[in-house]
Amino acid sequence: MDVPNNSIFFFLHVIFLSVLLSSLGGQATRSSRFDPGILMPTEKQPEAADDDEIGTRWAVLVAGSNGYGNYRHQADVCHAYQLLRKGGLKEENIVVFMYDDIAKNELNPRPGVIINHPQGEDVYHGVPKDYTGQHVTAHNLYAVLLGNKTAVKGGSGKVVDSKPNDRIFLYYSDHGGPGVLGMPNMPYLYAMDFLEVLKKKHASKSYREMVIYVEACESGSIFEGIMPEDLSIYVTTASNAQENSWGTYCPGEDPGAPPEFTTCLGDLYSVAWMEDSETHNLKKETIKDQYKTVKARALRANTYHEGSHVMEYGNRSIKGEKLYLYQGFDPATVNLPPNNGLIDKPMEVVNQRDAELIFLWQMYKRSEDKSEKKTEILNQIKETMRHRNHLDGSMELIGTLLFGPRKGSSILHSVREPGLPLVDDWKCLKSMVRLFETHCGSLTQYGMKHMRAFANICNYGISEASMEEASSAACSGHDVGQWHPSVQGYSA
Ligand SMILES: *[C@@H]1O[C@H](CO)[C@@H](O)[C@H](O)[C@H]1NC(C)=O
Ligand SMILES: *[C@@H]1O[C@H](CO)[C@@H](O)[C@H](O)[C@H]1NC(C)=O
Repeated sequence: MDVPNNSIFFFLHVIFLSVLLSSLGGQATRSSRFDPGILMPTEKQPEAADDDEIGTRWAVLVAGSNGYGNYRHQADVCHAYQLLRKGGLKEENIVVFMYDDIAKNELNPRPGVIINHPQGEDVYHGVPKDYTGQHVTAHNLYAVLLGNKTAVKGGSGKVVDSKPNDRIFLYYSDHGGPGVLGMPNMPYLYAMDFLEVLKKKHASKSYREMVIYVEACESGSIFEGIMPEDLSIYVTTASNAQENSWGTYCPGEDPGAPPEFTTCLGDLYSVAWMEDSETHNLKKETIKDQYKTVKARALRANTYHEGSHVMEYGNRSIKGEKLYLYQGFDPATVNLPPNNGLIDKPMEVVNQRDAELIFLWQMYKRSEDKSEKKTEILNQIKETMRHRNHLDGSMELIGTLLFGPRKGSSILHSVREPGLPLVDDWKCLKSMVRLFETHCGSLTQYGMKHMRAFANICNYGISEASMEEASSAACSGHDVGQWHPSVQGYSA
């Protein structure tokens, strides 16, 4: 909506307002959330009238990881919270999921503070602790989205109690893998379960439109081939179905984290949309403008042979709308352009799965030689590498046992055509993962990258009995308990 710059319009508004107010006995029924005192619901001004303005803005913000090495995901989500509050969304309408182990972490050089940019200010203050620690689960996310208070387990109990005219903005940042998004507490979020929740929400007619932004490796695979166009939902993802997404503002990079930090401060797609929102007038900028800018910035890293293809799914008509309908409007941006088309200088990035090792390596380099601490960190690095090798090796061996040495690897890694879903039978996918984990141990955050292999095993019609046999054979002698939770706690 454009603010009327015509003073006659404004004058008429004021008269209209006072007449209406007195006829209501001074009771202004209209919410003053967005343009206090200027807009009334019955107005039909060519410039100011905006039917789109009806309803409440809701937001759900999810950081799916924990551990100091994953600082950046919670930093992204805290930053998004501050941005939405500046835009006028109310705390009661923003539901935050974050593990909350960063600000007070002993490794944090700035106790009680989280930043999302090398020169950034604190983004942690005031962020509500709706769902923290063990309550950051896929189950609670589904209950919150569906507005089902009785289904929520723990946490503040805040849910998206939205009405038919409301708009919902969902933003998620974490690690992922084909068909799954990470959560700090098992199980992962599976694409098909998430889609069922979105369909249920749509069937309950409790929102007008929804916009979803997802940052994770292979995040396109959550929607590719399965996201319908008729749910009034528009989605963008940090990467396509088969590539990494990227951490940024990392130690030793340009631009990088301040020297006292051993961990990355943000993620490329995430900081790209937020820094874009903060520097433009969101009453003028469309969702599509932002999509284009973020896409260019995420690809720009291709200068370094790294970067990702930002993707879009769902109902693309929605992207013609102005961003403020979802992210609100910060009056301080009123004189900023909608989008100046400038692409920031390329940013150095680190792929999500290596960010964890970079963190450990930074810690290693900074520890005193021959100290107990240094040995401990070295052991963690060794354990992390050993566990990765174990997962990769077991997977390859299972491929060989199922398909033979000549075809095993190519079948496991084969990628379906764009537009096709990762897997036809999502139940099968879950079963195959369960069978693998029973014999070979937890997949963990790193192991999510093998989800495509499980999907292909399903797509080739392998039975559960054959998978059971292959997993058992590949991992016989492997102690499934040997991946220590303390080590995993670092890497999450
Ligand atoms: C809310 O969740 C509870 C518990 O899972 C379930 O029994 C109930 O049917 C749900 N309500 C709605 C409206 O879906
Ligand atoms: C897509 O969204 C537009 C705008 O809300 C709507 O008019 C159209 O019917 C939607 N398309 C589908 C397939 O639902």
